Amino acid sequence: MARPTTHHVCTGCGHSEVRWLGQCPGCGEWGTLVEERLPATSAGGSRGAGGRRPSVAAPVPVRLRDVRTEAVARLSTGIGELDRVLGGGLVPGSLVLLGGSPGIGKSTLTGMAMGNLAAAGRSTLYVSGEESAGQIRLRHERLEHGDCRALDVPVLAETELGAVLASIEAERPDVCVIDSVQTLHDPELSGAPGSVGQVREVASRIMRAAKAAGTAVVLVGHVTKEGSIAGPRVLEHLVDCVLQFEGERERTYRTLRALKNRFGSTSETGVFEMRQGGLVEVLDPSARFVGDATGKPGSVVLAAMEGSRPLLVEVQALVSPSELVPPRRVCTGFDRNRLALVLAVLGRHAGIGTGTADVFVNVVGGVRIDEPGADLAVALAVASASKGIALGTEKRPLASFGELGLTGELRTVAHPERRLEEAAKFGLGDAVHPGAQRTLRHALKAAFAAQQAVAA
Ligand code: TYD
Ligand code: MG
Repeated sequence: MARPTTHHVCTGCGHSEVRWLGQCPGCGEWGTLVEERLPATSAGGSRGAGGRRPSVAAPVPVRLRDVRTEAVARLSTGIGELDRVLGGGLVPGSLVLLGGSPGIGKSTLTGMAMGNLAAAGRSTLYVSGEESAGQIRLRHERLEHGDCRALDVPVLAETELGAVLASIEAERPDVCVIDSVQTLHDPELSGAPGSVGQVREVASRIMRAAKAAGTAVVLVGHVTKEGSIAGPRVLEHLVDCVLQFEGERERTYRTLRALKNRFGSTSETGVFEMRQGGLVEVLDPSARFVGDATGKPGSVVLAAMEGSRPLLVEVQALVSPSELVPPRRVCTGFDRNRLALVLAVLGRHAGIGTGTADVFVNVVGGVRIDEPGADLAVALAVASASKGIALGTEKRPLASFGELGLTGELRTVAHPERRLEEAAKFGLGDAVHPGAQRTLRHALKAAFAAQQAVAA
């Protein structure tokens, strides 16, 4: 019988089995066995696996003070928002994981970046396991405008890992995009493309090949809404940088953020708009979102922080009588559990009950807000919708931010002065926030009084 070339290792306890089992005999956990290649023996194919020799001279550790740091020249992608989120451009030889749900624009973004890099004289390689070369050409034709030389990018429509590795070794490009990591596979592993074992193998072999060739690699990965699949999540520890591309497919706005970045901050966010000719950077997102705000009952402008950058977004609420028990709580761009908390505090500490009404909350423009500073704006939007009273006008919507405490108090959040400055920039100076009001009751009073003053 032929020697097996792979085994199944428990990700929990490290127990190894020849066959896949649902339950690990080592620790009793279910579904933790993942297929891996066995360390290279006579079976060829695994380059530079580097087994440890028995008599290796002990390397000498270097004191940090004596470590030499070199300023790395970053590769600019020609897309300002992307470069900023990366921390100033791509680092040569680094591995970047770009995650996002299907259809969000990952291929478009990487296509544009590659077109710009090609125009700047960098050698590029676009590997696609998802689309044929013809399909990629059609997309890239739409991206060819301005400085973007999208049709100069060499493509490889290939799904077999060995072939892709050979190409990277032969071409040694400055930048390589793998679209997507879930479509490549190593035929030696029995798992289907996209399974945890395959994805890990593909990513780690590409990483080794790329480091050897000095190639910066962008791995594209699909993440479902739940972010659960055997996908990018299992690679987070391996890569230098994890970028998440978010938004609703049907909406025009998309945000790009860094969840992990070994070469820069994780608090930067890029905002894009999907247009006919590809993605367009939104340089002043606040202006867009405030300009679109309705100022009708249920509309409040939230002064949010997106990383180190203040951002004004419109929060809308709708409260309508429900026939359902329990009634609906629907959120887009805001956490559902957080809404439950806001509604409970509104009912208990401000006398605004929503127990028999459906409540819908929407952060406009496909933006997702997951900071506690959004509580107060959501509370005000729900109160305004519930009473049917507008808190501002179309020209001058009400701005707000702050966290809600369980006892009905307002709690301060990070960077109040930056948020206020941004609001003032758009003429929304008299914002309702924890620095001005102490409790939700006072905040509501101030918000509705401001409206009466405007109406008078
Ligand atoms: P795509 O980049 O293929 O998404 P992903 O790789 O993340 O799955 O494209 C996303 C959507 O964008 C697709 O529905 C078509 C649309 N699109 C435009 O609106 N304009 C364009 O110029 C391009 C290239 C795509
Ligand atoms: Mg794609």
